[in-house]
Amino acid sequence: MNKTKWLIAAALGIALIATGCSSGGDTKGGNTGTATPPAASDIPAAYTKNCASCHGKGLEGTGSFPKLTNVGGKLSQDQIKTKIQQGGNGMPAFEKMLSADEINSLSSWLAAKK
Ligand code: HEC
Repeated sequence: MNKTKWLIAAALGIALIATGCSSGGDTKGGNTGTATPPAASDIPAAYTKNCASCHGKGLEGTGSFPKLTNVGGKLSQDQIKTKIQQGGNGMPAFEKMLSADEINSLSSWLAAKK
């Protein structure tokens, strides 16, 4: 009887350790997947590459180039998309430089900046 009880306790213990380890491993795996710091992860790579030189790394604007920190409160997503595609007034047109996907994701990301 004693021996059986001990075996059950041991089996439960091993099961608990095993689940504890595997869930710990999963969490760690998820964390390493998002290695970028929170502040930088909000900025799409396409923005940093194509837009940051004028509009600033954090959307703050540079010189006479406008800030985009609250552009979503000023322009609709469609208007932002048109601006990126066609440029104008000192802004280059990106229609041929970026894919439709990149333009769409940039405009929806910017439209959320209110
Ligand atoms: C060579 C500099 C330059 C680059 C590069 C540039 N822009 Fe601009 N952008 C401007 C200028 C200048 C304006 C203001 C134009 C105007 O008033 O019509 C502007 C305006 C805008 C506006 C409208 C802002 C407002 O308040 O009306 C948006 C949105 C915008 N840019 C997004 C982008 C995005 C996204 C990129 C990258 C794909 C980009 N820009 C790259 C110069 C630039």
